[in-house]
Amino acid sequence: MTQLTGKEIILGVTGSIAAYKAVYLLRELTRQGAGVTVVTTQHAQKFVGPLTFRTLSGRPVLADLFDPATDAAVEHVELAQKCHALVVAPATANLLAKAAHGIADDFLTTLLLATRSPVLMVPAMDAGMWDHPAVRDNVATLRSRGVAVLDPDVGKLASGRAGTGRLPEVDVILEALHRLLSPVKDLAGDRVLITGGPTREPLDPVRFLSNRSSGKMGVALALAALRRGAEVVLVSGPTSQAPPSGAVFVPVETAEEMREAVLQHLAQATIVIKAAAVGDYRPREASPVKMPSKQGGLTLELAPTPDILKEVAARKGDQFIVGFAAETQDVRRRAREKQEAKRVDLMVANDVSQAGIGFDADDNQVTLLDRWGGLIELPKMPKLDVANAVFDRILSLRAAKPAHIPR
Ligand code: PMT
Repeated sequence: MTQLTGKEIILGVTGSIAAYKAVYLLRELTRQGAGVTVVTTQHAQKFVGPLTFRTLSGRPVLADLFDPATDAAVEHVELAQKCHALVVAPATANLLAKAAHGIADDFLTTLLLATRSPVLMVPAMDAGMWDHPAVRDNVATLRSRGVAVLDPDVGKLASGRAGTGRLPEVDVILEALHRLLSPVKDLAGDRVLITGGPTREPLDPVRFLSNRSSGKMGVALALAALRRGAEVVLVSGPTSQAPPSGAVFVPVETAEEMREAVLQHLAQATIVIKAAAVGDYRPREASPVKMPSKQGGLTLELAPTPDILKEVAARKGDQFIVGFAAETQDVRRRAREKQEAKRVDLMVANDVSQAGIGFDADDNQVTLLDRWGGLIELPKMPKLDVANAVFDRILSLRAAKPAHIPR
């Protein structure tokens, strides 16, 4: 099950060279369980034929308001009413102009007027067009009416020139759609500071001490917070995970760099969550040159890294502070000790000795221990669901206003 399972989506496609990317978007929407009806403009069909969309969606492709085969004139009202969201990708400057001015001269623009469902526009055009005041005004008008309009990507354009105008990647469009469909915006107004991933402590210019954190838990927390309406800063150690669009992303390497980034953003945050696996030790001296490969035995002298979570909890003002405890035995007792020693509001304990959860897994199984004595054990679930459960717990603890949570 995904958030799109069972959702009815209208995918509008307009006449841009980027129309071929709508095919990939359609494939991903259906893969995630959405029922998709493709509505194209006449010009779009010059770039991608309706057979492609029909085959992938399993439904007729709509384009002509007066097509007797589809009885489309009636259908547009029903479609507009029953869809959960309408996505136009790519949206040309022409389509944006018509939508902004209420022109309804084909199936897609008529649907845009008729629907009361959320609308996501994904523009693609040449950079000069995107920068034109007419286009900027139309985009501003649409946004002021609550239409979500993504900014195009920067890169090489069909004209051969480089600039802003490329259709954003499919996963960026999907993420924007997920956010549009998220009914709950219960973190609106919150600014969430999240750490994720491992740290790296250099031994020499090519070697380091690190751990197995993939950064997945941090990204899941950032995604969940964004979907629920928060502003997000994600401070992450080196990871191959793409940071979610919409988050301020601060890449770091060492524990000291992570500490500096966290302290820099701390004052603005209302919630701080430390899911990063921070190295507890670093080599006391990092060699400035590559150490010889074969030198017999090697003894490293290690020095402790700063305990960022403890420092944050000690410095905190109004913020709600959450730590993660990675344990391999006696999980609850050790996590409770860490929660008390580091004086955090909520400790999320995970058993990192178990296969399929914890480090570098898609799922996690956690126990939530709060500083008012509460303990909730959650089942194994995808990290995004764990992230949502953590935010649910933060919100319910804050709403209960236990003594000394200022807010
Ligand atoms: O990244 P993934 O592959 O998705 O894996 C997720 C995870 C297993 C890394 C995550 O769920 C997790 O458990 N993160 C905490 C890892 C850890 O460092 O745990 P700890 O018990 O050693 O530290 C306790 C807390 O203190 C953590 O919030 C940690 O960020 C913080 N800490 C630790 C040491 C230090 N020097 N500074 C810190 O701030």
